[in-house]
Amino acid sequence: MGMKRLLIAGGCGFIGSHFVRLMLETEEWRVINLDKLTYAGNLENLKEIGEGDQYRFVRGDISDRALVDELYKSERPTAVVNFAAESHVDRSILDSAPFFQTNTMGVQVLLEGGRKYGVERFLQVSTDEVYGDVENSVPCDEEHRLAPSSPYAASKAAADLLSLSYKRTYGLPVIIVRSCNNYGPFQFPEKLIPLMIRNGMIRKDLPVYGDGMQRREWVYVEDCIDAIRRVLERGNDGAIYNISTEKEYTNLDVVHLLCNLMAGETEMEEASLRNSMKFVVDRPGHDRRYATRATKIRKELMWKPVVTFEAGLQKTIRWYLENYEWVERVTSGTYRDYYDAIYVRAWK
Ligand code: NAD
Ligand code: DAU
Repeated sequence: MGMKRLLIAGGCGFIGSHFVRLMLETEEWRVINLDKLTYAGNLENLKEIGEGDQYRFVRGDISDRALVDELYKSERPTAVVNFAAESHVDRSILDSAPFFQTNTMGVQVLLEGGRKYGVERFLQVSTDEVYGDVENSVPCDEEHRLAPSSPYAASKAAADLLSLSYKRTYGLPVIIVRSCNNYGPFQFPEKLIPLMIRNGMIRKDLPVYGDGMQRREWVYVEDCIDAIRRVLERGNDGAIYNISTEKEYTNLDVVHLLCNLMAGETEMEEASLRNSMKFVVDRPGHDRRYATRATKIRKELMWKPVVTFEAGLQKTIRWYLENYEWVERVTSGTYRDYYDAIYVRAWK
């Protein structure tokens, strides 16, 4: 029997690159990785993987109709997993256009291909941010109403609704996963955890938005991709699965823990790291709390996260310390302009 064919979109980003590596561990799947290589996508994230029968990389945009149609036609994927997105909330506040182009229109193009060429599974990677701020309510299950706060979250919620409409209208076998915050190696240092690690390493301030009492749930990226593989292989068509550790931390908890663990891994003093924490202007529209329940994926697919937050943060810190050249390369150039727009000019 031949290999099943998996089209992974956005496989050069943070979570996508971990997922590509996971799916190539066995010889069950041929993986076709379609990625535009934006600032967040980096071929270096997969440098040990050679192209051949099991793997092909295609540089391209998921919203490019002709290219996507040609790819479906030539590769005839059995399944699609879509990670491709503009993923950073702060950037969506500065300019929402690329978010709707990729996160919504791009998904429409991928869904159309899935429908035309008859894929057996279409897994859309979504986020707990589609539920919006749940400061005063119980944690969300998959039926919770959608109330996205940022342009990023709205562009993802739109894609969720569109995907579900393709299931109902055309019978496309769509599944959605909504994960809490991921962290781990290869995450672009614009996101809270790698940004704090990098700033700590280069002795810059640690910028905390607002009062730092916003709460998030954090899952180590390897636990998250394990969940996504289970859903791909055994999830129910038309279903939505939350992915979550169900453990909430305030941003201040996270930064304090990072200061403590970084001091343990380096010559830096914990007190001096803590002293470099700086409260800065809040993110406009900032959600105070995300909280979800992952009962469904635990019960149906026997998934559970195995990496504790402390152990995951320690692995992450070690990776960034050992891979500082990667950090330097991905943050050179235009990243500086972005950093200034957020932290120096304060959202102007
Ligand atoms: P990322 O920003 O690290 O990577 C995104 C990847 O998509 C990059 O490789 C980029 O080049 C590619 N891409 C962007 N636009 C594209 C386009 N038009 N066509 C083709 N490729 C394109 O993102 P991530 O953090 O790995 O997130 C992956 C997915 O998971 C996203 O859909 C995001 O919404 C979702 N998600 C992320 C988290 C998190 O904490 N990181 C949590 C929940 C959900
Ligand atoms: O919840 C899932 C989402 O998690 C994903 O859908 C997004 O793609 C991903 O980027 C992430 O969104 P957040 O906005 O939660 O992540 P971020 O790392 O940007 O911020 C985490 C928290 O830390 C948030 O409350 C804002 C705060 N923060 C962030 C940065 C970058 C700071 O206080 N200071 C900072 O410098």
